[in-house]
Amino acid sequence: MNLIVTIPEFRDARANLFGTVGFVPTMGALHRGHMSLVKKSNQLCDFTVVSVFVNPAQFAAGEDLSTYPRTLDSDLKLLSNYNVECVFAPTSETMYNTDFSTFVDENSLSSGLESLSRPHFFKGVSTIIAKLFNIIQPSHAFFGEKDAQQLRVIQRIVENLNFPIQIIPGPVVREENGLAMSSRNEYLNKEERSRAGILYSALLKTQKQITDGERSVKKIIDLVRKTLHSEPLAKVDYISIVNDKTLIEVQGDVSGDVLVSLAVYFSDIRLIDNITIRFPE
Ligand code: PAF
Repeated sequence: MNLIVTIPEFRDARANLFGTVGFVPTMGALHRGHMSLVKKSNQLCDFTVVSVFVNPAQFAAGEDLSTYPRTLDSDLKLLSNYNVECVFAPTSETMYNTDFSTFVDENSLSSGLESLSRPHFFKGVSTIIAKLFNIIQPSHAFFGEKDAQQLRVIQRIVENLNFPIQIIPGPVVREENGLAMSSRNEYLNKEERSRAGILYSALLKTQKQITDGERSVKKIIDLVRKTLHSEPLAKVDYISIVNDKTLIEVQGDVSGDVLVSLAVYFSDIRLIDNITIRFPE
């Protein structure tokens, strides 16, 4: 497994990879969620490349860019248990040199949900992913379903900008109490981390409620809110039910496939989770 930090060096290494190349983009602080994507890439592709880059463009001023966990040594150790051809870990200066002025900005699926609290986020993600796709030139790229909106935005960009890349989603990997694996879980103290399982409990309740026949968006959201409010440490940012494909807010009654997603603060740590509920219209 090679650690590569510059673009020319990566291009040289890439020129020797003949076959399918699976790409797992990450910001490091790797956990079982990332590893499930690496495993998937190992199964599907001849070679696997992982990037580790904490992307400044997707953080707003006042967010956690400076404190985001940077754990390259342990990330490399973890990755050495898998079949990873190389890890691309560039510096910020490499990715954003002083005359950087070109951004990718998807304009439909990026609005709403996460954008309401983090308006800068998808432009930053879209730009770095386009750059990484151009550098890595993968045949396949793997993204977790925990970041459901991010996944859909990237699928749209690949389609709209004709990247010859197959996007492969990976299911959410959870801690024992249901908390979705995330590098930001490291910020939670022990008590918060155990209580944060409430996000998934609320989503499971919603799933049951819908399966049992409830269709009213208002009633469904009320139940999620009530469940989350039963946990005093949880502060709801948003609860949303959108059409699973268009990400447009469902009004009145739910029908078709819907994405139920939520963002909840524990202290100042913002956690997100979601569930897709599929049922015939
Ligand atoms: O999901 C993430 O970790 C990041 O948003 C990504 C896709 C690596 C882009 O920086």
